[in-house]
Amino acid sequence: MLKGKRILLVVSGGIAAFKVPDLIRRLAERGVSVRCAMTKAAEQFVTPLTLAALSGEKVSADLFSLTDEAEMGHIELSRDADLVVVAPATANILARMAQGLADDMATTLLLATDKPVLVAPAMNVRMWHHPATQRNIEQLKADGVAFIGPNEGEMACGEYGPGRMAEPLEIVAAIEMQFGKPLPRHLTLVQPRPANNGVAPLKQDLKGKRAIVTSGPTHEPIDPVRYIANRSSGKQGHAIAAALAARGADVTLVTGPVSLPDPAGVKTVHVEAARDMFSACFLDLPVDIFVAAAAVADWRVAVEAPQKMKKSGDLPPVLKLAENPDILRAISTTDAKRRPALVVGFAAETENVVAHAQKKLGSKGCDWILANDVSEGTQTFGGDSNAVHLVTANAVEDWPRMSKSEVAARLAERIAAAFNDQSKKNLKKGS
Ligand SMILES: Cc1cc2nc3c(=O)[nH]c(=O)nc-3n(C[C@H](O)[C@H](O)[C@H](O)COP(=O)(O)O)c2cc1C
Repeated sequence: MLKGKRILLVVSGGIAAFKVPDLIRRLAERGVSVRCAMTKAAEQFVTPLTLAALSGEKVSADLFSLTDEAEMGHIELSRDADLVVVAPATANILARMAQGLADDMATTLLLATDKPVLVAPAMNVRMWHHPATQRNIEQLKADGVAFIGPNEGEMACGEYGPGRMAEPLEIVAAIEMQFGKPLPRHLTLVQPRPANNGVAPLKQDLKGKRAIVTSGPTHEPIDPVRYIANRSSGKQGHAIAAALAARGADVTLVTGPVSLPDPAGVKTVHVEAARDMFSACFLDLPVDIFVAAAAVADWRVAVEAPQKMKKSGDLPPVLKLAENPDILRAISTTDAKRRPALVVGFAAETENVVAHAQKKLGSKGCDWILANDVSEGTQTFGGDSNAVHLVTANAVEDWPRMSKSEVAARLAERIAAAFNDQSKKNLKKGS
């Protein structure tokens, strides 16, 4: 989808500029060539040398540089790319863009370009809400500029609200949309919560709590067309995300490739490989609740072939595997400041289900495990029902077979009860 595309990345002077190297890396992984332009203020947050080294391209910062202008003039540069992305976009650069100012290299490129422009704003929540900023945004939207984010969350300045730059993977998804791939719906707007059709609404007892739920399989690339995967459908993880949201939690669903719609009322981040899922989860910390329902591949191919592997007539290739990061263990054992108060893992076993789950509880450092039997004949993978055991440090509860949405609703109810008990100690005991 993005292979061979050229992006002009304009970096302005916000604290979120520290995420730009990650964004460049993720674009480069997808075969995109990135050329950066920076404002003077941006150089205070990330060095031109870092961006040049990561992009493999010269960084444009000085409008009046004789050498730069001789090599590629600013007009040519502004049109050379397929897309212009401004990330992070400060309140200041949005104001300058809205006014049509061209008082440095970055804004001159933005005024001279004839290519689509995508903007990822990042600023303090009050700067975002300021009528002047909102006016500028409306103007830019009317001018055809696309926006991704900002996200809501805790800011570097300690305040809370909208203003955090969209995460690099979300910006990548928004870039893909510019080239024709439908944008995952969460990115422009969190889906409204579904109407309850006359049914009494659930108690909003998780209001104010933040949760991450992982779901689905991961795809571990072998070469550009082949991958290692598993049979997880994502039905259980998606149902849990929806059930937590229905009780008022602010939920991020990090999902591998599945053929399910994004659940309503949930921010959904789409990833492919285990390493992407790992980063997406950590980028969303801190949260109160973490539910690891994804069937994350334990191994990936150590070295992904850059081109499709061909039959050569000799012996078949040997795939050397490398271990993937262990997301559940990493989240469970992360520093106390970021560790969620409640970490729930899943154990998919084909034999000695409860015994394996109890062992996993200890080895991963999580608080609860939902263990399910995925042996042949149970149809747990891909099916609509599940028979699980809730394993905590002190107890094992056997739940009867029920639909995956009922499992999700029951888990959400248990989680809400544990939080309403207030004490983290009780969370850990599962009481
Ligand atoms: C530590 C620090 C962090 C800042 N972070 C932001 C930010 O996230 N968003 C923003 O709009 N301005 C931020 N600013 C203010 C901008 O750097 C300032 O408005 C600057 O003039 C922006 O210039 P530019 O838009 O040309 O890059 C920050 C300033 C400082 C000192």
